Amino acid sequence: MKPPKKAPAKVAPPVLTGPAKLAEVARVIYELNRDLGKICMLPHQRDAALEQLKVYGRDSKDADPMFTNEGIETNTRHAFNSPSFTTSRCALRCLANAMLLNPSARARFVELHYEKKLCQRLKNGNQEDELLVSRIIFLTTYGGNIDIENLIDHHHLADNINHNIARHAKQYDEAHKIEEIQSDRPSYSFMKDDTDPSVVSLIHYDAVNLSLELEYIGPNLATFSDRDRMSLLPETSQNRIWRDITSGIEYMHAQNVTHLDIKPQNILLQEGGRAVLCDFDISVRGAKPVPCNAGTPWYVPPEHIFDGRRGREGDVWPFGGTMLFVTLHKEAHGKMLNWLREVRRAADAAPKNLSLVRSMLEPNPRKRITAAQLTIELAAQVSWKSSGSELVANLALLNI
Ligand SMILES: Nc1ncnc2c1ncn2[C@@H]1O[C@H](COP(=O)(O)OP(=O)(O)O)[C@@H](O)[C@H]1O
Ligand SMILES: [Mg+2]
Repeated sequence: MKPPKKAPAKVAPPVLTGPAKLAEVARVIYELNRDLGKICMLPHQRDAALEQLKVYGRDSKDADPMFTNEGIETNTRHAFNSPSFTTSRCALRCLANAMLLNPSARARFVELHYEKKLCQRLKNGNQEDELLVSRIIFLTTYGGNIDIENLIDHHHLADNINHNIARHAKQYDEAHKIEEIQSDRPSYSFMKDDTDPSVVSLIHYDAVNLSLELEYIGPNLATFSDRDRMSLLPETSQNRIWRDITSGIEYMHAQNVTHLDIKPQNILLQEGGRAVLCDFDISVRGAKPVPCNAGTPWYVPPEHIFDGRRGREGDVWPFGGTMLFVTLHKEAHGKMLNWLREVRRAADAAPKNLSLVRSMLEPNPRKRITAAQLTIELAAQVSWKSSGSELVANLALLNI
């Protein structure tokens, strides 16, 4: 098992002031300097000492040793030579603070000639390094007299800055895109807490693992049908479904969510008889019609035929279709069956070269051709035909 991540070294806020603070700052710098010559601190002690120095250095009063040659060089060497990014960043913070508060500290830093490492540090893609190093470079131009042209000509300062700006622009773009995509999806929050009892309650949503935990309701409406797929629901249940699902849809629309997949399979019956709407997998936020190809043909609203879009009104139509199913509307059901017979007749009468279409329209799902089989059959057809002159015509067939 992975050990828990170590918390960054923390020190209590300094209580020392006046000469005591001065002595303590001098002592810490002395220790950190000694550590550079011969390692005498453990990593966490070093980081804690730098953190302590940072806190003392926030006020320049009685922090003089921070700004001396020794103080600046000690911090600079820890900042740019340490193999640990934690240590290095602690020291960079001390350095940036010291240079902000004390102009002569800027000149001292410039005299150490860390130009190469300073500019290189802009290239590691770390936002904190970028911020600290940019701040240090900026401060060296105020009284530090850094040769900025040298940084540009010999240490790629301008290239590195441009590269970072491009990276930020890209990240911003991606974050923006994700936001746009997510703004289309329902937040699921409308399914929580005091939601309408006709909308299934969300117990837990894990966006990282894409999992939902829902309150258990009961069987879906499609299970209440006989062998001929005729609904067996009694009249009291029918009326209850009318009322409950109407209220669920009204609530959902008021929350600015469009379901897009209302059908008997997505309506559940609770033990007490309540009907509850579920399956918000393809639902969207907003009321405007959106492109949507999912759904069972019987429950696809007619407007979808014209522009492939469905919206809030498109939730009412399939609820109507569902109520036809629920209320034993034999005539409509009969027509649906007629349509299936029509499809079957057309498939049976299809010419021999369309036998694959017949296999696709096989009414028994167990016997229906699978997508994998279809791929193999189509590939075989192409290679067989490719030996003859019919290749072009056959490829056209595949593109239908
Ligand atoms: N909260 C629930 N309580 C009981 N059964 C459920 C619940 N949610 C879904 N089901 C059952 O699981 C089936 C599939 O779930 P659904 O959310 O519709 O997913 P999908 O249709 O995308 O596979 C539903 O038709 C229903 O029978
Ligand atoms: Mg479903």
